[in-house]
Amino acid sequence: MKRATIITAAALIPPHPSLQTLRKAAANCRACDLWKSGTQTVFGEGSPQARVMFVGEQPGDREDLAGRPFVGPAGKLLDQALAQVGVDRNVVYLTNVVKHFKWVPDARGKRRIHKKPRYSEINACRPWLDAELAVVKPQILVCLGATAAQALLGKDFSVSRRRGELVESGLAPYVMATVHPSSILRAIDHESRRLQMESFVADLRKVAQLLHKSRKAA
Ligand code: URA
Repeated sequence: MKRATIITAAALIPPHPSLQTLRKAAANCRACDLWKSGTQTVFGEGSPQARVMFVGEQPGDREDLAGRPFVGPAGKLLDQALAQVGVDRNVVYLTNVVKHFKWVPDARGKRRIHKKPRYSEINACRPWLDAELAVVKPQILVCLGATAAQALLGKDFSVSRRRGELVESGLAPYVMATVHPSSILRAIDHESRRLQMESFVADLRKVAQLLHKSRKAA
């Protein structure tokens, strides 16, 4: 039986990569078809010495245009939650499992609506994330939402059941999953949004405590 060729970005990873050389190489990535509809590759952002890495699903509309992760509404909400637990965005590394925006036009063809990436697209993009992890070596890895959690922790991982829990993983000394900030933006009313934000902040507070602990141990 003939096997299908699995294309990934693996061959594009530069030798002895740094975040700079990775970002440059990722700008030309065509490992899956999303480069055709996205404006540009949105690579991760932050210090190579960051102790915390947050991984989301994929850039959104604003991120696609700006070329930076988490700068749209979900990013603003993440910034607010980080501020509430006393973690400066500048000390974290932010990235996504997929580095191009996947979208479909809305009914009027005016807005670009986010579309969940396929397994093959996540898989094609994975070498970039693995390389980011290898360069940054975060002490704490936080998966934001089911796409990131299932890509990194296994396809059966349930964020609703295991959010805020420390998970055994070889990816970093401390690994946790929580909800994606965009799920809070979709809350049906003000009260449920307030409650969801409270739970999100409680999860991030654990991250802040781990960060504090890892700084003391260093
Ligand atoms: N959602 C994500 O998962 N990542 C971003 O960068 C923005 C929104």
